[in-house]
Amino acid sequence: MSLSCAFTTLVLAIHVYLAIGCPQLYGVQAPYLLYSREDWGAVHATDIHPLKTPVPYVIIHHTYLPAACNSTQQCKAAMKSMQNYHNSLDWGDIGYHFCVGSEGGAYEGRGWHNLGIHAGPVNNYSIGICLIGDWRVEQPPREMLETTKSLINTGILNGAISPTYKLKGHSQIMATECPGTALLDIISKWDHYSEEQFVINKKDN
Ligand SMILES: *[C@@H]1O[C@H](CO)[C@@H](O)[C@H](O)[C@H]1NC(C)=O
Ligand SMILES: *[C@@H]1O[C@H](CO)[C@@H](O)[C@H](O)[C@H]1NC(C)=O
Ligand SMILES: [Zn+2]
Repeated sequence: MSLSCAFTTLVLAIHVYLAIGCPQLYGVQAPYLLYSREDWGAVHATDIHPLKTPVPYVIIHHTYLPAACNSTQQCKAAMKSMQNYHNSLDWGDIGYHFCVGSEGGAYEGRGWHNLGIHAGPVNNYSIGICLIGDWRVEQPPREMLETTKSLINTGILNGAISPTYKLKGHSQIMATECPGTALLDIISKWDHYSEEQFVINKKDN
């Protein structure tokens, strides 16, 4: 391969990487559709505190209820019902940072830079992503899992998630069935999955 060909190949590789991994910088869509709060009709959040980023943890949840949503319309309705429910608990917004539907759409909850309410003592150190549905026995569809991974990558690229983050299921932090045995089994095979007990390190503060 000539030098100029090698250079062209490198430039092309960088362009592909930016196009796929870095939508904000490159002006190209992320590999998933992102629905903003306006898109799903969120009501105004009243609980807004800054999240110290990049966070060292990503916590995966299922919803149990609402059940799996298979279309944008169903998933928007699921987001609204969760926000209503979480507001009724006085949380001042939907608890999660992002949710993912079975159709592969990503739905903005609190976003990348606000403190969430989803994992008790780990709230201050984590991004919480919920996979809408009950994943105790059934496995989430491939599109849903791919979007979840891409969302995590987006978070790393925009500085919200540490590149050395640890991935955990909610049940590893608190006494809950969430994110469901079937889903926990899947994420336990992903990079960054950690069974280490959560401890607040000075360096995380
Ligand atoms: C979590 O962060 C918020 C600020 O975003 C702060 O007010 C609160 O004290 C923190 N909680 C803990 C347990 O560190
Ligand atoms: C979504 O799809 C799943 C799996 O096919 C199905 O069990 C479920 O009833 C569907 N949900 C709705 C709200 O249609
Ligand atoms: Zn959970």
